Amino acid sequence: MRPLIHLVAGARPNFMKVAPLYHELVRRGETDPRIVHTGQHYDDAMSDGFFRDLRMPSPHHHLGVGGGSHAEQTGRIMLAYENLCLESRPDWTVVVGDVNSTLACAITAKKLCIPLAHLEAGLRSFDRTMPEEINRVATDAIADLLWTPSPDADLNLRNEGVPTSRIKMVGNIMIDAYVMLQDAIGKLTAYREFEVKAGEYGVVTLHRPVNVDNAASLAVLVNELEKVAKVLPLIFPVHPRTRARLEAAGFWPRLLASGLHVCEPVGYVGFMSLVSNAKLVVTDSGGVQEETTYLGIPCLTVRDTTERPITLTEGTNRLIAPGDIAISVADAMSGAFPRGKRPTLWDGYTAARVADSLAEAVVK
Ligand code: UD1
Ligand code: UDP
Repeated sequence: MRPLIHLVAGARPNFMKVAPLYHELVRRGETDPRIVHTGQHYDDAMSDGFFRDLRMPSPHHHLGVGGGSHAEQTGRIMLAYENLCLESRPDWTVVVGDVNSTLACAITAKKLCIPLAHLEAGLRSFDRTMPEEINRVATDAIADLLWTPSPDADLNLRNEGVPTSRIKMVGNIMIDAYVMLQDAIGKLTAYREFEVKAGEYGVVTLHRPVNVDNAASLAVLVNELEKVAKVLPLIFPVHPRTRARLEAAGFWPRLLASGLHVCEPVGYVGFMSLVSNAKLVVTDSGGVQEETTYLGIPCLTVRDTTERPITLTEGTNRLIAPGDIAISVADAMSGAFPRGKRPTLWDGYTAARVADSLAEAVVK
């Protein structure tokens, strides 16, 4: 029997990390990879659409947990994943990223003494008010194998006392997803739907609780985006959390009337088509900071910190305050932005390196 590998995915940023690894493991045929979808994200535009775009089969196991408070969501995932592991025990559990599904399945697997690997290990914002930072630190503390995207991540783990033998720098798996679908992305001109021209618009994504969960910070963001929309058309696919907050604070009609191209979340291929043809991006996303660095597109990140510092030191990313969006966009439009370079091992072969490392671990 081939070793059974659970690949855990729950939320939007997980799907493009799991897909390249799933395809690589299937291609090699040495293991039996099964996708476990926790159901943390459940709208078609946040979940199933990504399975289609990323050419993945339906999840082998769907835990169907849905939303809730952190404790509710994490607890429900743990209960459901424990049942699955008791029915069909994997030889390894692989978790990716930093969402609640990552931590919940990591703890569950380890309590059942199932070997655990974390893909995208070692990233640190050093801001423990971020739920993701808690998920990262706790997952890395118990993982047996830690696959990192960049040297800063290795250093963070060593500083936390993780034995070097467990750490393997494999590069950035997000880039594998982009490379895998580059042809399809290149053929699409998603921006045309919004009646804008290539290179003459910006893309906006915002969903961090610190930015969108209270009306005062939302008001600043809406003001700034309105100012920018007067000089640069903006396409803003709105995350469901953000949409709910905008509606609750009464900003939604104003945003619709503001000239911004507000839309539902976009599928992976469409979104990467929008980003790769954009003049610049305004975001608070983790993954988008990396994708823009890879593509050489200026990225203004509306945050105090980033767990992806290599996008600042080597890439095209800048951290900005919410009230500085308009002025920073004006700067970027005047060309005040370094070109950046692609970090080492962000090359489309990360899944292959992960599969090599996993094969070694499974045989041991
Ligand atoms: C989660 C992750 C965050 C990640 C983001 C990516 C945690 C702690 N947070 O945040 O790290 O950056 O996903 O998008 O894991 N909702 C829907 N439909 C969906 C999904 C969510 O309507 O398909 C709404 C629900 O009201 C839900 C809320 O959005 O309660 C928040 O969803 P949740 O998964 O808890 O957190 P995100 O803000 O999406
Ligand atoms: N993304 C997408 N459509 C969108 C917004 C994002 O396909 O409308 C993709 C994009 O590739 C991004 C990834 O989803 O890198 C991560 O999503 P998100 O920003 O939700 O999560 P984070 O990386 O902040 O955890």
